[in-house]
Amino acid sequence: MVNAEKFIAKAITEIKSEAGENKVVMALSGGVDSSVCAVLAARAIGDRLIPIYIDTGLMRKGETDRIRTLFEGTQLQIIDGGDEFLDALKGHTDPEAKRKAIGERFIRVFEREARIVGAKCLLQGTIYPDRIESEGGIKSHHNVGGMPPHMEFTKVIEPIRDLYKDEVRDVAGALGMPKEIQHRMPFPGPGLAVRVLGEITREKVAVIREANWIVEDELVEMYRPWQCFAALIGLGTGVKGDNRIHGWIVAVRAVNSRDGMTADPVEIPFDHLVRIGSRITADIPSVARVVYDITSKPPATIEYE
Ligand code: XMP
Repeated sequence: MVNAEKFIAKAITEIKSEAGENKVVMALSGGVDSSVCAVLAARAIGDRLIPIYIDTGLMRKGETDRIRTLFEGTQLQIIDGGDEFLDALKGHTDPEAKRKAIGERFIRVFEREARIVGAKCLLQGTIYPDRIESEGGIKSHHNVGGMPPHMEFTKVIEPIRDLYKDEVRDVAGALGMPKEIQHRMPFPGPGLAVRVLGEITREKVAVIREANWIVEDELVEMYRPWQCFAALIGLGTGVKGDNRIHGWIVAVRAVNSRDGMTADPVEIPFDHLVRIGSRITADIPSVARVVYDITSKPPATIEYE
């Protein structure tokens, strides 16, 4: 476990020296990793830091409004990238291709904004497990292996690249950040795209956004899991009224974990699971079936892609 105070002092010195006199754009999602980076970088280089939040159209329900409120009064720029990201994802079914398309879009949007403000460096909240899992060759986290080979940035600064998530939370505490951010559930950079198997469409994203909202509403407060969410895993038959229908199959996943490297399913009482299933099928008419995922990591990953 790192000594948070020592880490903070070292990280600030490192950001100062890496940035030099340059302006720096940073990817701020509002999660604990990027928020910690934003505080460290603001202390290191003040208003030469330009934090940018991109609404990729793949965010959770209400997320962009939450970020707007949370960071009100700061320099944060909010970019609406919904159409751009959905266009970039069109036709892609392979998980790696989807991650790469998203990683590339992120960089292109940051480059565009960097040109406008005259920034040369990009700062991002990559943590140790992102690098380990990308280097393992199974999947490219959007902010590591998912990045395009050619970028306009002369430097990428990653102040928390050696930390695990629980260490990042300790640093957030030492920085005096709000509990809401410190203990927030992880949410993947590619967003709901890794919670929809296969090709992304607006309709699928709308379905899974609503289902995620229901799952979080049912489970976060009660079980405080490491992560809980819904994923759209296919299309099957169902019956609604007198008709057989084709409807979406939604998987509910809730896991406990220490660092995201291994995980176990949360034991949810059966009657609560049934209630969640009924709520999802009632609120989202195009869903015909809901299942609960009982797999640990390994062999499954936490996300579906
Ligand atoms: P997996 O699915 O690999 O997830 O067991 C481990 C942790 O990482 C998150 N995750 C990601 N985070 N970009 C991210 O920023 C990604 O591409 C990505 N893929 C997975 C996942 O939500 C879990 O917390």
